[in-house]
Amino acid sequence: MTESLLQAYTRYFKKCFRPAAILILGLLGVLVIGYIDYITGYQIGFFLFYIIPIAITTWLGGLYPGIIISFASIITWFLADSLAGVTYPNYFIPGWNAAIRLTVFLIITYALWYIRILNRRSKELTEFVANDLYIHLDNISQNLNKLLENENQALSSQQKDIVDAYKISTDMMSALIDSILDISRLENRKIKLILREINLEELLNNALRVVSVFAKNRQIKLEKCFNTQQNIFYTDFHLIRCILINLLNNAIKVSSAGSPVSVVVDSEDDRKIKISVIDRGPGIPKNIIDSFFDRFAQIKARESGLILFGSGLGLTFCKLAVEELGGRIWVESEESKGTAVRVVLPVGNK
Ligand SMILES: Nc1ncnc2c1ncn2[C@@H]1O[C@H](COP(=O)(O)OP(=O)(O)OP(=O)(O)O)[C@@H](O)[C@H]1O
Ligand SMILES: [Mg+2]
Repeated sequence: MTESLLQAYTRYFKKCFRPAAILILGLLGVLVIGYIDYITGYQIGFFLFYIIPIAITTWLGGLYPGIIISFASIITWFLADSLAGVTYPNYFIPGWNAAIRLTVFLIITYALWYIRILNRRSKELTEFVANDLYIHLDNISQNLNKLLENENQALSSQQKDIVDAYKISTDMMSALIDSILDISRLENRKIKLILREINLEELLNNALRVVSVFAKNRQIKLEKCFNTQQNIFYTDFHLIRCILINLLNNAIKVSSAGSPVSVVVDSEDDRKIKISVIDRGPGIPKNIIDSFFDRFAQIKARESGLILFGSGLGLTFCKLAVEELGGRIWVESEESKGTAVRVVLPVGNK
């Protein structure tokens, strides 16, 4: 009982902490602008500067902190003008000015808050639809599997081909939805890192095993080079494995039969490792290298002459996952010579 009450308090504190901290920062911003307003004296249009803390507070903290900052701005503006010795010919003028300014501030606050809500709702809807689709596709895929595995079922070879084609399309759609969900979770910081001691060589072998069938089918030789003494690191096994599989799959996809794909691990220092996935494929055209990790980079890649299949979300996932781990990812490439995608990850902090 005591524990759950404590947990509830902690949760409530965490929930309120961010808006409260943003509100305090917003109020400090208003005070700074008020002070400048005071020393500059009567300046028509200076009130526009108050919109900066109002907008930032509303965007980051929500509607109520935004409303509080709007009122605080009006009071500060009024005090700054009065203390600076501004006099009005009529008693009603400052009241009228304050009302107009407050209305403008509140409209801006409400509009920004509404845009933020719409933004969040559309993301939630995408996630909801993707989740639902994933469940149904998984169901279809499992039933197609049963159909293909059932020896007694008299499927003609033509029917088998059709079911096979359905299965491939279903699996591709599942992979696409899986990528959308992973990216959405990373963007909304819903993925919880599971940090533990991992054996990097074991992780590498695991990722290489996953892609080995694909590599064999495409007649690609997989090579690994482990240039680090230390082998035990403290990081998220699953996330690094996903990044590696994505990069290896790309390298295999773009390589022509007979050419090698290598993974090289170097230690930057005892807190950082560098993993490079190197291929001798077609390289990346210079005009798309800057947008290489952008969402649907595949579209641009295709426009530049590369014809490949996939969701075009793998690299976006890799970039977000590497950033979530506090690392850096970049690409080095020379057209028609090959590509090296390099990842530096912090791995030492227990
Ligand atoms: N090593 C590489 N060399 C050359 N082009 C590459 C390389 N890696 C990726 N690309 C290009 O970038 C595009 C986007 O890659 P990304 O991994 O994001 O998507 P995908 O591989 O097409 O789909 P998915 O990874 O979701 O199955 C690829 O389609 C390909 O055209
Ligand atoms: Mg990919």
